[in-house]
Formats: sequence, structure tokens, C-alpha cells
Amino acid sequence: MPTQVTVSAPVNIAVVKYWGKRDTSLLLPTNSSLSLTLSQDDLRSTTTVRIDALFNKDRLWLNGKEEDATANKRMVRVVQELRAVRKELQNKDSSLEALDEQKMHICSENNFPTAAGLASSASGFAALTFGIAHALGIADKISTADLSRLARQGSGSACRSLFGGFVAWNMGINPDGSDSVAEQVADEKHWPDMEALVLVASDARKDTPSTAGMQLTIETSDLLRERIANVVPQRMSDIKTAIVNKNYDAFAEHTMRDSNQFHAVCLDTFPPITYLNDVSRAVIHLVTAYNNLFTEKSDNAASSKKGYRAAYTFDAGPNAVLYVRREHVPEILAIVNATFPAPADADKQTYLGRAAQYVGQEDK
Ligand code: DP6
Repeated sequence: MPTQVTVSAPVNIAVVKYWGKRDTSLLLPTNSSLSLTLSQDDLRSTTTVRIDALFNKDRLWLNGKEEDATANKRMVRVVQELRAVRKELQNKDSSLEALDEQKMHICSENNFPTAAGLASSASGFAALTFGIAHALGIADKISTADLSRLARQGSGSACRSLFGGFVAWNMGINPDGSDSVAEQVADEKHWPDMEALVLVASDARKDTPSTAGMQLTIETSDLLRERIANVVPQRMSDIKTAIVNKNYDAFAEHTMRDSNQFHAVCLDTFPPITYLNDVSRAVIHLVTAYNNLFTEKSDNAASSKKGYRAAYTFDAGPNAVLYVRREHVPEILAIVNATFPAPADADKQTYLGRAAQYVGQEDK
């Protein structure tokens, strides 16, 4: 009997960024990271997997176009790993029929621009891993942490999209990557008024893909070493505390500082990598000016009271994600739209995403 499943997985947007690999084959990071998984209703990848005895080879379609399934080494690896897990399970469990020789067709689509710095590889590999696990009949026989470990081998950030809510990817220390997995820090219901506004400054493909960019950074940036050793460990701990206590000011400050440092590290790479453009920088200045309106100044800098209303973060591209509280969304959207008047294809320009919702673990 052929099996066919369709699943979807949302993107996640990091507030403590992953940038750098200590192992480029297992995709093991040089620092831990933390992200929010957006809602299923917003930016997502939807993947259909069909396993059929009539197929004579694995085939892959991305956004409607057939790709060479054997050329995508990371996908080949994830498929191989999942088949190996299935084989191991079927040796132990006689109710699982042998599927070893059966080929699969995989069809994946994003409802947003691919490779424009909007975490398409995260949602893509999360949906791929989850979809294949389902089609192989093993999704309910292995843990979400194990699925996360498998998805990581497709794209590092994908391991975080297997969970909803606030998710940490612990870098781990084992050379085989067995402890380099994501875990949920707080679920999607924990901070229900947290929203993500995705401001699309450009939907063009990025010039420097993350994988190549981060390797060049590892080879050439001194600032990255400082970040890995002295900044991220403390920030991971502090931002987790901010999330648990729903302390927006602390969360917002760490988010913006981490985005700034990630892009500083890109600039410290040689030759430098620049992902931000003039629109990105204008968004940073706008958010800073807006936040300053709510900061109570005092002669003593230490006692100035911060009143953040918006926190920006940028991945490997010029598009901004603002983490804001729901009550401030209308005002912030009005300010953004007044500052950056909508072009003709306005509906493409601003995605309103809701963070901290259920992650895509359901068949459609
Ligand atoms: C800037 O996960 O796309 O979005 O592991 O090489 O596939 P690979 O890289 P990828 O890198 C994401 C980098 C980032 C930061 C983040 O999501 O943490």
C-alpha cells in the first residue's frame, strides 16, 4: 500500500543567533541559540511525502520545480538517517512491514520568499524530517528531541522548528552530536501576547548563503571568538530568565543586542558580509527612536527606566522581525507603514506573524 502524508512546519526566528559550525558535516554549532517558533498560520513550509513500491527513485520538488534529489546532500543524509531509524525499529517491532527498498517522492512549498533570510531552510527541513518520519510510520515511535537531532543534519536552525513556543538549541559537547538538540524553554501558550511582525525589505535571494557565510566567519573573525566564549553563554541564561518571567524589557534588549552583534560579526568577517541594507538600518533607527519615547531619563544612567515597545532582529538578510506585545501592534504597524509607504504589491510587504503558537506537528 502506498503511503502519503502532508505536514507543515512554521519558521522560527532566533533572538540569540546561531552562526558558526564546529563540525560542518554533522552541523554542530559553535554556540547555543534560542528562537521563537511562529504560528502555523503564518510563514510555513508544507511538505508532501509519498512512499510507493512503484517508484524507481527518490525525487524532490521544491516550490513546484523538480530538483536533483541526489545533489541535495543534506536531504540525502536526512532521508538516509530516517530510513536507518525505520530499519532499526522494524527489526525490533514485527508490526512494522519492511519498507527498505521503497522510494519516495517529496514535494515541498513555502508560503513566503525562499532563501531571503526568512528561515526557509528551518521550516523546510523541519517539515521534511517530520513528513518522512510520518510516511515511514515512525513519527510516534521516536521523540521530538530525536526528530530535532535528525532535522539539524538538514539545516542547523531546523532543529528548533520541531518545537513550538520558545526553543533553545543546546550546542552540546559530544563529537557525535548526540547532545546537540533543541528543547522547549516555554510553550506556545506561555506568553500569548507576544507577536512577531515580519517586515519584508526585500524578497530577493541573499547573496551569501548562511552556510558559506558562517564558515568564512569562523575562519576570519576575531569578534566571533569573543562572542562564543564570553557573550552567548551568559545571554542564553539571561534571556531564558527573561522569557520565564515574561520580562519584556530584558527580552527586548538581549534580542536587539544579539542581532547587532551577529551583524557586527558578519562585518568582522574578511572579506566582510553585509546582510543589512538601508531599509534595515532605517528600521533599526525607527525602533530605537520609538523606544526612546518610553524611556524615563534620569541623571544617573543606571537608574534610567527602560520602556521598550519593540525589539528588532535580523537574520542573514535585510528583512526585520519585530517582537512586540499585542497591545502595541496597531500603533507600531501604523508607524512602520507611515515611515515606509507601501508599494503597489502592498500585501507582500508586511507579514503579520503571531509568535508562540502551536508548532506544526499535525497532518493536514
Ligand atoms: C542567521 O540554519 O540556515 O538564521 O545550518 O548551514 O543550514 P545551516 O544554516 P542555517 O543558519 C541560520 C542562521 C541564522 C541564525 C539562526 O537562525 O539562529
